[in-house]
Amino acid sequence: MSSFGGRDVLSIRDFSPADIQLVLRTARKMVPIAIGEKRSRSLEGKILSTLFYEPSTRTRLSFESAMARLGGRALGFSSAEGTSVQKGETLADTIRMVEAYSDAIVLRHPHEGAARLAAEFTEKPVINAGDGAGQHPTQTLLDLYTIWDEKGSFEGQNVTLVGDLKYGRTVHSLAYALVELGTHLTFVSPPTLEMPPEILEQVKEKGLSFRAAHRLEEVIRDTDVLYVTRIQKERFPDPQEYEKVAGSYRVDMEVLRDAKRGLIIMHPLPRVTEIAPEVDRTKHAVYFKQAFNAVPVRMALLDLILGEGA
Ligand code: NCD
Repeated sequence: MSSFGGRDVLSIRDFSPADIQLVLRTARKMVPIAIGEKRSRSLEGKILSTLFYEPSTRTRLSFESAMARLGGRALGFSSAEGTSVQKGETLADTIRMVEAYSDAIVLRHPHEGAARLAAEFTEKPVINAGDGAGQHPTQTLLDLYTIWDEKGSFEGQNVTLVGDLKYGRTVHSLAYALVELGTHLTFVSPPTLEMPPEILEQVKEKGLSFRAAHRLEEVIRDTDVLYVTRIQKERFPDPQEYEKVAGSYRVDMEVLRDAKRGLIIMHPLPRVTEIAPEVDRTKHAVYFKQAFNAVPVRMALLDLILGEGA
């Protein structure tokens, strides 16, 4: 049995660099199947549950597409409305039920730690598809795949994370992973939305230097990978606080004037106003490709966890 067989995916911190390399290499082999050029039945007879207590487009649909491309099935809900959660059913009971209906469970929930809690109620693998402002490990795997595919390596790349570094779960998971992979990190955010101290501690512990800035213009010149995030409106306890920082950053042609030729711009999507539409047409924009990469990467992960070789 590989180290992936039947395992939970709760935090990116549970993945060693070797684990990450395995997922990325497996994902590359999945691409012809992900685009429908080749066929696979490796997950035939397997069922994946997708329980989404928060909105999602890409994450849920790419998990479902990944399952279908490998001959498996997916079932689930895209909002707690219309489920017994409305009647007061606890997460624990829902998980116990769904365990009986499927081989693995993908969970997105507004509370930090929800996936870890869910994993305590089932023997089946639980995959964290976002727990509040906590983590989003499978997004990180596809983000890493995108960097690797576009840039060829991680070591020595200057990666700038910009936007809501406080509430953005994608950047929390990504920062943990990039520290292990030897990139140089730069954090750009409004003063009230800086990276949480525990993540900064982790970066320091690794002995890596990092930069923090408030203005993108200060750091764009030597950035290789610009990872843009949405200000997470739904996480602000006070709507007035959101209004103060809404629209803090906008990547447009003016900002990109001093950018390196080989700069890539990533975004987990959805974007609101933080990347101007005219940027889509530049060579820098890889965010739609990044969204496609979700399929081969999630195929790789599911195959490693549930497949024959698992
Ligand atoms: C992100 C999320 O849900 O954390 N979306 C995604 O999964 N691609 C980012 C966001 O909502 O801003």
